Amino acid sequence: MNTSGNERGVWSSKLGFILAGAGSAVGLGNIWRFPTTAGENGGGAFVVVYLVSIGLICLAVMIAELSLGRHTQRNPVGAYKTLAPGTAWKYLGILGVLTGWGISSFYSVVAGWTFGYIFKTAAGVFSGLSPVEIEKVFTDFITNPVYSIGCHAIFMTLTMLILFGGVKAGIERWSKILMPLLLFILLLLVARSVTLDGAGKGLRFYMMPDWGAMTGRGVVAAVGQAFFSLSLGMGTMITYGSYLSKKDNLLSSAVWVASLDTFIALLAGFAIMPAIFAFGLDPAKGAGLIFVVLPNMFNKIFLGNLFGTGFFVLLTVAAVTSLISIVEVPAAYFIDEMKMSRKKAVSIAGFGAFVAGIPAALSMGTVGWLSDLLTIGGKKLGFLDLMNLVFGQYSLIIGSLGVAIFVGWNWGADKANAEIAEGNPKYSGQTIYAFFIRFMAPVAVAALLICLILFPDAF
Ligand code: PHE
Repeated sequence: MNTSGNERGVWSSKLGFILAGAGSAVGLGNIWRFPTTAGENGGGAFVVVYLVSIGLICLAVMIAELSLGRHTQRNPVGAYKTLAPGTAWKYLGILGVLTGWGISSFYSVVAGWTFGYIFKTAAGVFSGLSPVEIEKVFTDFITNPVYSIGCHAIFMTLTMLILFGGVKAGIERWSKILMPLLLFILLLLVARSVTLDGAGKGLRFYMMPDWGAMTGRGVVAAVGQAFFSLSLGMGTMITYGSYLSKKDNLLSSAVWVASLDTFIALLAGFAIMPAIFAFGLDPAKGAGLIFVVLPNMFNKIFLGNLFGTGFFVLLTVAAVTSLISIVEVPAAYFIDEMKMSRKKAVSIAGFGAFVAGIPAALSMGTVGWLSDLLTIGGKKLGFLDLMNLVFGQYSLIIGSLGVAIFVGWNWGADKANAEIAEGNPKYSGQTIYAFFIRFMAPVAVAALLICLILFPDAF
């Protein structure tokens, strides 16, 4: 029988962790959701609120998750059980595991679309089509159950294959290959976009905050986006932290991951905004921005099919390194708590997410009632949108609030500080960190949760 000890793993180096952590953080959230929501919420002003939230709230929560994980060497449920045995805190860990299952289900569906688009752009399907025809290609693709469920199945299988390899030979090895590739493709796209005629307008929209276009909802969307983008609130960073060595500097690793994530989100905006404006397209096009607006743009540039294919490879790479970190949370729970082998744990976690993703895949117009479950603030929500709202937003915010309160007040800022100082003897931020994790983060996240309850359509 396998024991949890030999089925767990450790990162081979600090760099290995940084790339895997950044691989988790950098995903559809950075390249799809960030430019899209920034476009809908006043460009530069959104970017400023986003950056402030990362620095003032999210970083403290990320450090809290990593120290919980490294200290206990456990998955989220095990971590709470170890530090607060016999209390209800373990339910916060269980919420994290359920959230991992919930997010991975619909994340894999959307990632499947990006995967399918690699082949569509490479085959030149969009060449010469009008904007209306391009929109039709997208609708036909996502409403065709064979394609949408098929691509979802392929994507989930890829994720599981990487996870079978374990921490070092699976997650870390693939992050080390895919993250530099992602950066390379992204830089190429940025270079193309900012040199287009008329790119300046987009750069201004993106870099000059127009506070008049910023609403309360925009602020909530920016802060929520920051949590989603840094993979906080469901225990991904607890789990990845549990594979960190005591010798590594946890604080600088966290700063690296948060900075890389922010840098790549900003770069994605530089790749997309100038192009949108150069072609007179609409930055507030929402979800269709990537799958409808961009193929229009690729049609109009030299070697467009090549850049288009590169872009969807980029999105796919970003998505796979995130999805492995989402599925790893339930998998680590099964390994630690149920003493399963890694193979069995990953198979159950991945297959469960695949099954839950089927109604999500069918909710984009294929099955009427699944596509139109309820209406919030004038927006129609289907099953996929609802999963995103419940797991991708509320659960992550509740989880982040819980982890800040637990680390700040229950386990205690002193213990967290002692963990941070391991592997970093010169650490001297104890007072500042205690302030951030005890006061700043809980108050800000509680305020965010209240706003989300008041404006559920903020995202
Ligand atoms: N951070 C990932 C992204 O931006 C999504 C994610 C959320 C990953 C929560 C893990 C946990 O796409």
